[in-house]
Amino acid sequence: MAKISVFGIGYVGVVSAACLAQDGHKVIAVDIVADRVAMINAGQSPIVENGLAPLINAAVASSTLTATLDADTAVRDTDASYVCVGTPSNRDGSVGLAYVSEVCSIIGRAIAAKTTFHSVIIRSTIVPGTMESVCIPLLEAASGKKAGVDFGVGYYPEFLRESTAIADYYDPGLIVFGALDQPTFALLTLLNRDMPCISHQVDLRTAEMVKYTSNAWRAVKVTFANEIGNIAKACGLDGQLVMGLLCSDDKVNISSHFMRPGFAFGGSCLPKDVRALRQLARAKDVAAPLMGAVLQANEDQIARAAKMVTDTGETSVGLVGISFKPGTDDLRESPLAELAARLIAQGLDVQVYDPNVSIAHTLDADASGRGNEVVPDLRARMVPTIEALIDKAGVILVGNSYADAAAPLARAMQGQPMVDLTRLQAGIVSHGTYQGICW
Ligand SMILES: NC(=O)c1ccc[n+]([C@@H]2O[C@H](COP(=O)([O-])OP(=O)(O)OC[C@H]3O[C@@H](n4cnc5c(N)ncnc54)[C@H](O)[C@@H]3O)[C@@H](O)[C@H]2O)c1
Repeated sequence: MAKISVFGIGYVGVVSAACLAQDGHKVIAVDIVADRVAMINAGQSPIVENGLAPLINAAVASSTLTATLDADTAVRDTDASYVCVGTPSNRDGSVGLAYVSEVCSIIGRAIAAKTTFHSVIIRSTIVPGTMESVCIPLLEAASGKKAGVDFGVGYYPEFLRESTAIADYYDPGLIVFGALDQPTFALLTLLNRDMPCISHQVDLRTAEMVKYTSNAWRAVKVTFANEIGNIAKACGLDGQLVMGLLCSDDKVNISSHFMRPGFAFGGSCLPKDVRALRQLARAKDVAAPLMGAVLQANEDQIARAAKMVTDTGETSVGLVGISFKPGTDDLRESPLAELAARLIAQGLDVQVYDPNVSIAHTLDADASGRGNEVVPDLRARMVPTIEALIDKAGVILVGNSYADAAAPLARAMQGQPMVDLTRLQAGIVSHGTYQGICW
C-alpha cells in the first residue's frame, strides 16, 4: 500500500484519487477550492463522471481517501504526490504552466521539511522539456534538495476519456511514464502492477511528447472522419457507412501501417488520389482543408530532406534508392526521384544506387526508369554497387534500405556524412555526422 497525495481535484485528480483509494492505497486529495475539498470529505463527487460517486463515497467511508486545503501536511503524510492541476492554453496557444509551477513550488517547500524520500509525479499535460526546464528547477529551488537523489521525480501522463474515465483507468490502452530515479520508477511500476497492459518506461521528455501525440492523433482522426463525411454527404452518400467500412480493415487502415515517421509518401496512387479527392470536394463546394494540408505537408517533407542534405555542405550526393519504395522499380511520383531532381537543380552531383531500377534499365534499353519524369539522365547517374556509391559520395542519402547495402552503410555511418530517411538500424538516433529525418 502506498501513501499518495493528489494535487488538483479536477477530472484527472479526482478519478486518480478515487481509483488509487479503491485499490487500497491511502490517498490525500489537495485543492485550493474549499468546496471541492468539502465535497470529497462528505463522500460526494465534485464532478459528473460515470461510477465515480460510489467510489468516492466508499473510499471516504473507509478512510482511504480524505481531502484537504493543507498542502504541507498532505506532502508530509504521504510518500508521493501526483500533480493533476490544469494547464490551460495561454493567449498565444502555448501551454499554460502557472498552476503546475505554483504546485511545484508548494510541494518543493514541503519536501524541504521532510526527512523521508518523496516522489513528485506530474500527470498534467505539459510540452516536452517542461519537466527539465520548469518543474525540476522549481522543485529544487523550493526544497534546496537535488532531484533524482534527495527526492524523486516522474512524469506519468493520463489518457482517460471523460465519461468513461474509471473504465479507462482500469483498462488503459497505454501506460507510459518516465522518472529520474529508481524509487519513482519502482513506485509507478507497483501502482500499475495489476493493469492489463504493459507499462512503458521511457525518459521524461518522451513521456511528455507521447501525451501530445496521443491527443493530436485523436483530433486528426475526428477531423479526417468529418472531412470524409462532408465529402460523402455531398456525393449523396452516408459518411458513417464509408468510415465504418474503412475502419473494418484492421490489417492496414486501423493498424500501425503508415504510422512510422520518415520520408514523404508517393507512388502511383496516394498523391494522385488525394489530389482527386480534394478536387472532388472543390467541385462539390465542400471544404477539405485536411486534404490540402496533407499534400502541402508531403511537399514540405521533401523540402526538409533536401535542406538536410544541403546543410551538410557536401556537393556530391550518393542516393540509396530512388524508386518510391524498396522492392519495386516503380518511379511514378517517387518522392525520392523528386528529391534527387531538386538536389540536381541546386547544382549538386547526385549518383544513385537502386538495384531494382538498374534491373529495369537492363530490361528496357531506352527508358530512363519506370515512370521517371523528373530525372531525365537517371541512367547515367546509376552506380552498379553500393560500395562504389559510398566511395564517390560526399554525403550518403538513404532513401530505401536493401539487404546488400546494410553492412557497407553501417560502416560508412561511422564517419561519412549521412542523411537517413528510412532508419537503417532500429533505435539509431542522430549523432555526429549521421542525421535521421525524424529521429
Ligand atoms: N480532463 C481530461 O479528460 C484530461 C485527460 C488527461 C489529461 N488531462 C490533463 O490533466 C490536467 C488536469 O486536467 P483536469 O481536466 O483534471 O483539470 P481541472 O481544471 O478539472 O482541475 C484542476 C484542479 O486543480 C486545482 N488546483 C489549481 N491550483 C492548485 C493548487 N495550487 N493546489 C491544488 N490544486 C490546485 C483546481 O482548483 C482544480 O480543481 C491538465 O493538464 C489536462 O490537460 C486532462
